[in-house]
Amino acid sequence: MLQENDSLSTLTAAANADMLHHYGAAGTVIAAAPGRVNLIGEHIDYCDGFVLPLAIERYIVVSAKLNNSTEARLRSGDQPEAVIDLSSPQSISDLKWSNYIRGVIKGFNDLGHEIPGFDACIVSSVPSGGGLSSSAALECAMATLFEGLLGIELGIREKALLAQKAEHDFAGVPCGIMDQFASAFGEQDQLVLIDCRSSEPEMVPFSNPDLSIIVANTCVSHDLSDGGYAERRKATEDGIAIIGKESWRDATLEDVLTKEAEMGDRVFRRSRHVVGEIQRTKDAVTAFKTGDFSNIGQLMADSHASLRDDFEVSCEELDLMVEIASGLEGVLGARMTGGGFGGSTVTLCETKHAEEVGKILHDRYEAKTGITPVIFATRPAKGAHVISQS
Ligand code: GLA
Repeated sequence: MLQENDSLSTLTAAANADMLHHYGAAGTVIAAAPGRVNLIGEHIDYCDGFVLPLAIERYIVVSAKLNNSTEARLRSGDQPEAVIDLSSPQSISDLKWSNYIRGVIKGFNDLGHEIPGFDACIVSSVPSGGGLSSSAALECAMATLFEGLLGIELGIREKALLAQKAEHDFAGVPCGIMDQFASAFGEQDQLVLIDCRSSEPEMVPFSNPDLSIIVANTCVSHDLSDGGYAERRKATEDGIAIIGKESWRDATLEDVLTKEAEMGDRVFRRSRHVVGEIQRTKDAVTAFKTGDFSNIGQLMADSHASLRDDFEVSCEELDLMVEIASGLEGVLGARMTGGGFGGSTVTLCETKHAEEVGKILHDRYEAKTGITPVIFATRPAKGAHVISQS
């Protein structure tokens, strides 16, 4: 019961068919950027931690052509058309989906690049609201499209940071750097280990065909901009301020335990998550580098428990999906992934059992909740790139 991932050529054909239908001609520049799934290192990208995501074989593809005007006209699925005036400064619009794009245009403008008028159609295989960073994929796809339209290349880091700023300023989510970095830096068969203190990515090979990554979208979602995310981020800032150190990377569990009374229960538990998760991620990186996975299941289980009990970003459906996966034949480990409050889990499993694991996750989750989940396997995929240009 593993859902197929549409190929880039299928998505490109769909985007071009939409271009033909809405704007009378296929695109001349086609760009793509993937969503991401995080193996471990959750809610610590804004705490100078380490995170270990990968770009997934689920993409946003945008096909575009210049239209000799000063307007951008964009379509995405059945969303109302977005018409953006490129000759005046960008601001937040009531048409929510267009704000990611406005934010990216603003980023280019701030760098001194005017965007010429264009028509574009966007198609996506990244489930929206699935905790798989469809917004980062959209931002990175648009930034890559603009590079193509302008005939320039920003550095990958610069592009990822521009995309992150779009998310902060135009979508109101004070996110860390993980999603945009994974979408921009992703490479086939490589995990993207990010040192969030130095903003340095390091590729960690994941090419063993005997191991598979299964993503299970619970299909329940809560909007990250509803304040839950910002509250978590603020609590970690309060925690490190009470500890009195410059960075979470210099803090220890002992620091947290010593300050328990001063922190109060909530900030204490958020802080305990941060130091624990930084250590677990370092240990998991060792497992991926050495191929010794004897403790990966425990690390993923501990990460999930900490996100559920201390950081309080899980929910019943995520807990259920992890519980179903845990202990199944061939499963090495499972946990919630991404911002939480719904969204997806990630399960590391032996490839020979992946189909069966996918089927059990699907059937048992559906039987218990009445919700049909979306389950697929992925390998680390190529990050944002121009597919073609004519
Ligand atoms: C969201 C944010 C990321 C990160 C994760 C949690 O996906 O966009 O920056 O904080 O939540 O790890």
